[in-house]
Amino acid sequence: MKKIIKNGTVVTATDTYRADICIENGVITQIGGKLPDVDAEIIDAKGCYVFPGGIDPHTHLDMPFGGTVTKDDFESGTMAAAFGGTTTIIDFCLTTKGKTLKSSVDTWHAKSKDKAVIDYGFHLQIVEMNNEKLAELPKMIEEEGITSLKVFMAYKNQFQADDETLFKTLIAARDLGALVMVHAENGDVIDYLVKKAIADGNTDPIYHALTRPPEVEAEATGRAATLTELANSQLYVVHVSCAEAAWKIAEARSKGIDIWGETCPQYLVLDQTYLEKPNFEGAKYVWSPPLREKWNQTELWNALKTGQLQTIGSDQCSFDFVGQKDLGKGDFSKIPNGGPIIEDRVSILFSEGVKKGRISLNQFVDITSTRSAKLFGLYPKKGTIAIGADADIVIFDPTVERVISAESHHMAVDYNAFEGMKVTGEPVSVLSRGEFVIREKQFVGKPGAGQFLKRAKYGADKQTIHEGPLTV
Ligand code: URP
Ligand code: ZN
Ligand code: ZN
Repeated sequence: MKKIIKNGTVVTATDTYRADICIENGVITQIGGKLPDVDAEIIDAKGCYVFPGGIDPHTHLDMPFGGTVTKDDFESGTMAAAFGGTTTIIDFCLTTKGKTLKSSVDTWHAKSKDKAVIDYGFHLQIVEMNNEKLAELPKMIEEEGITSLKVFMAYKNQFQADDETLFKTLIAARDLGALVMVHAENGDVIDYLVKKAIADGNTDPIYHALTRPPEVEAEATGRAATLTELANSQLYVVHVSCAEAAWKIAEARSKGIDIWGETCPQYLVLDQTYLEKPNFEGAKYVWSPPLREKWNQTELWNALKTGQLQTIGSDQCSFDFVGQKDLGKGDFSKIPNGGPIIEDRVSILFSEGVKKGRISLNQFVDITSTRSAKLFGLYPKKGTIAIGADADIVIFDPTVERVISAESHHMAVDYNAFEGMKVTGEPVSVLSRGEFVIREKQFVGKPGAGQFLKRAKYGADKQTIHEGPLTV
């Protein structure tokens, strides 16, 4: 049966208007002033915004890391994402030196199959770029639909790739139509600073931040931008945490380099002092890059507002405080890096961004959904409300106030990094391809209902096809 969403205010990255939305067979078939109710299930969105479902371009579900495995898997992680108004995630598929890319992709399919409650795609990590990997890449991009490649410039002796690998990846991506993503921190310098701190007896969580100063992030960001220019390629910098890195991106963009930047909620609202919490509580706030001095938040908000940063990812990488984060008691370098954010990404951006006047409502939709759809080959199927688009829709009450807490969240972890934070605005109902996943704040979805998304090549959204002579 078709569904009609009535009485809501539709918001896209460009427009805000009152309209009804008709959904048939999972897609939006009509948008209009007053659509007739005949033979339709009516969904009342009175007093609510109707947004395109959020797209989280940065998650690590069921991922081995730091001697353990992230707590949220594709079931709990996507369920929590849906509660928070996200209807698509793109997760990082880790790869291994000496093994085929295909074997890693198969592993990630096995992790997600029958589990995801919303649609999902993969980014592909590149740890080495040799003839075997080069030969496999076209298949990954064209047949598997994995059109973004991730290079870590940090995590020495684990994920880190060298500049030659990054450069070759940029060239391959340019030729094959993929977007290169970087974790931009200088891993060699960090390795030296970490070893020195530990040798000096500086083992508390705060030293995680002190051994990864903003300069190491800015240097790597600038280096990656320069290599992108040299390769005439395209780059997306994940989890930008500080002003210095955001400025490097702005500078590169002003030179015409095709570079994009993502930040995350934690960098917008939390700061370095959280790492100083007593009783090892600082470990809850160990991310790489680390939380920064508070003044950076203003610069990051300004960069989102002015378009110098374009997206917000959760960087969901959750570990329990008890039993996982405590692997680093007595040695901060052994604290698994990352935190649980997938559920609160959209709410925090709405509450802290729109409600506090830092960004507009349309910018909020662009940052949480539309821009990622465009950059990662999902637009216009995802990321907007338009005829023919998937009916991935969030009915969002902008007036509800709630307090974020591990008591009420749906992630599988034993703490919430934003515990006690008051936010205004909350998803009431969430639809994925026209089916309710969340209905009146209750989960009604099904593990396995989420589909793997084969994504279009980088830049596909920009192509204009003129079918006949242009007339004016
Ligand atoms: O601390 C973080 N960010 N953990 C997840 C892995 C990564 O670097 O994105
Ligand atoms: Zn990273
Ligand atoms: Zn990450």
